[in-house]
Amino acid sequence: MPKDLRTDPELASRPSFHFTFEGHPVLAYAGETVATALWAAGLRILRHGPGDGGPRGLFCTMGLCQECVVSIDGQATEACRFPATEGLDVRAGR
Ligand code: FES
Repeated sequence: MPKDLRTDPELASRPSFHFTFEGHPVLAYAGETVATALWAAGLRILRHGPGDGGPRGLFCTMGLCQECVVSIDGQATEACRFPATEGLDVRAGR
């Protein structure tokens, strides 16, 4: 994993926890979305397009484009709209 890319020092005062992405632990802070935590961890490719197989990731960050759809505990979900919580099993979207 690359270094943590967060820049807001206030986050350190919030409770932190981990969920997993493709089985690897990802640090998150209370109030972050799954997408925010993945971005902060340097994880930019969240799925591959069904047509060309090209990499897909965050684009609109407000639930409009569907580019960030991943599997969260087995359900296809927009990572940018889903609050991060301890123990989530997040997988690349299909
Ligand atoms: S980044 Fe567009 S819906 Fe999540």
